[in-house]
Amino acid sequence: AAGDLAKGEKVFKKCKGCHKVGDKAKNSVGPQLNNFFAIELGSAEGFKYSQPLLDKKAEGQIWDIEALDAFLKKPKDYIPKTKMTFAGLKKDADRANVIAYLASIQVT
Ligand code: HEM
Repeated sequence: AAGDLAKGEKVFKKCKGCHKVGDKAKNSVGPQLNNFFAIELGSAEGFKYSQPLLDKKAEGQIWDIEALDAFLKKPKDYIPKTKMTFAGLKKDADRANVIAYLASIQVT
């Protein structure tokens, strides 16, 4: 089902401690998340990603809806030993909504 942007923005409050989005977004604990949707993993310039994430990138994986849904459900199942220390979003709707929100962010 298609996600809801406004609801997704609320879900993103759980991510904001580590991830910034928007005009002035910089990498912090996690990479900034502008324009990362539908491109390969690990593309934020200057962010030091974990080796397991870089290995997955080397396989040619991109952040599409399916990959994000699996990662956000349980980050450490999708990328064992990822340094994203976040338990995950259990509710299907929360993941769909936050993915819709992230996909909507276009910063030029
Ligand atoms: C990586 C999303 C919560 C820390 C990522 C990536 C995405 C993402 C899409 C991969 C980015 C890329 O490949 O460039 C989210 C969302 C969250 C969330 C939607 C909330 C639902 C958090 C929290 C933390 C965190 C709370 C800190 C406690 C990180 C770190 C990485 C990362 C350190 C790099 C992982 C690695 O190199 O293995 N996140 N995140 N994230 N996130 Fe999150």
